[in-house]
Amino acid sequence: MNDFPKNFLWGISMAAFQYEMGASEKALDVNSDWYLWLHDEKNIKSKVVSGDLPEGGPGYWDLYKGDHEWAKWLGLNSWRINPDWSRIFPKSTKDLKVSVASDDEGIRDVEVNESSLRRLDELANKYAVRHYGELFKDIKAKSLKLIINLYHWPLPTWIHDPIRVRDTNLKEGPGGWFDDEAVIEFAKFAAYMAWKFRDVADMWSTMNEPNVVWTAGYMGGTFPPGLKDTKAAGQAAFNIIQAHARAYDQIKRVAGKRAKVGVIYATTPSEPLTDSSEDEQAAKISDDVSTKWFFRAVLEGKVRKEFTGEEIKRDDMKDKADWIGVNYYSRNVVKHIDQPPLFDMQKNYGFSCQPASKSASRRPTSDFGWEVYPEGMRKALNLYKEYEKPLIITENGIADSKDKYRAWYIVSHLHNTWLAVREDGLNIIGYLHWSLIDNLEWAAGFSKRFGLIYVDMETKKRFPRPSAYVYRDIAKSNTLPEYLSEYSKYPNILAD
Ligand code: BGC
Repeated sequence: MNDFPKNFLWGISMAAFQYEMGASEKALDVNSDWYLWLHDEKNIKSKVVSGDLPEGGPGYWDLYKGDHEWAKWLGLNSWRINPDWSRIFPKSTKDLKVSVASDDEGIRDVEVNESSLRRLDELANKYAVRHYGELFKDIKAKSLKLIINLYHWPLPTWIHDPIRVRDTNLKEGPGGWFDDEAVIEFAKFAAYMAWKFRDVADMWSTMNEPNVVWTAGYMGGTFPPGLKDTKAAGQAAFNIIQAHARAYDQIKRVAGKRAKVGVIYATTPSEPLTDSSEDEQAAKISDDVSTKWFFRAVLEGKVRKEFTGEEIKRDDMKDKADWIGVNYYSRNVVKHIDQPPLFDMQKNYGFSCQPASKSASRRPTSDFGWEVYPEGMRKALNLYKEYEKPLIITENGIADSKDKYRAWYIVSHLHNTWLAVREDGLNIIGYLHWSLIDNLEWAAGFSKRFGLIYVDMETKKRFPRPSAYVYRDIAKSNTLPEYLSEYSKYPNILAD
């Protein structure tokens, strides 16, 4: 039997900005960098963003009870939620001084004591705090485990003005993750959330996909602040890593040592184009710079200030994850090149294929042009084997408006998850699908549909797609039922 481990977490993941707005005026949050980014004329004109706005979203802020019901209908037992920092603190918390230990190497400690927490409570937006409290309560009342992820990309505008940063090329701010002040403010936010919600959270994550923030924001030029500057990316990355470590400390201090605090990482394993030893080496290097170095930092305290170069020893950054969240969508295929970084990402594989087409290896691609590559799930999970931490697949899913591949996608990726448990001995404790409902796909807008449940963005009505019934059968039985076994295979033929 293809059983999953006992007490396996079956759930979904969501992000505030992608889900919340759309159903009422009250749901509006204009105080984040992402809000500014998607409304910026220059971005819309140059097609850096789609022109779709969060106000047109699925409206979870108001319709949350119904969405939690859908999770129950699916037979799920967990829900990963994300309260937005800009809602809780629309106004600056910078004037509230806390004690900070720092030196040339960075911010080593932040102390947010009881009286600071009370002051933060005065500064917080009462309505937002109360409303998130109600959301959490409803999740718990429906017997769903509550996994709170603190940061899923939007920063309050008093921390980051992405338009000004872009237009002045980092000379003027507020500078977001480029400034180490953001580390201290994030630590305050984490402490406050832990203080307010320690009694309801079952698990915590400090942040989602920090690597996407520094790559898409500072190297790819599509996410705020839209730069293409590897040096700036290195500095932002260093601050984000410090922010994770300091937030981890705060949650442990405030919510107690037994609080389970993890971090969620966009995990894209690299495969060699050929089986030559050079290409194999190139794939190893690529895995190192995209994934391993981050975990050397947060687990071993060996931190690179820039992406390449020397690692410095930071004991204050060590052992900062009790569990690891693995987001897996596709792979990279690389080949060796003689000049740094010694690997070259190949087109028409992984994330760089044509939409709704097929990859160079004749795999179907999603509406985003992402190659469907289920074996990569097992490889992604195995990248973490050496750390011996519990793993949760915190995101996995497909932009597939016609629901052509989703059922097959889910089953084949879960088959590989199952292999990673049974054959590779990994401690995988859950699978959270992205996404329960269609939502705002960041710069790409509403055309990319990841939902198990279709949302009519005009009426906000929800309708389950056929694949939802498949996920439901799996979650309810904690197994991959026999009738789905054909879907464990890789039907390249479907792309023909
Ligand atoms: C992000 C989600 C996003 C999904 C699909 C992940 O990188 O965490 O917010 O919707 O991928 O693009």
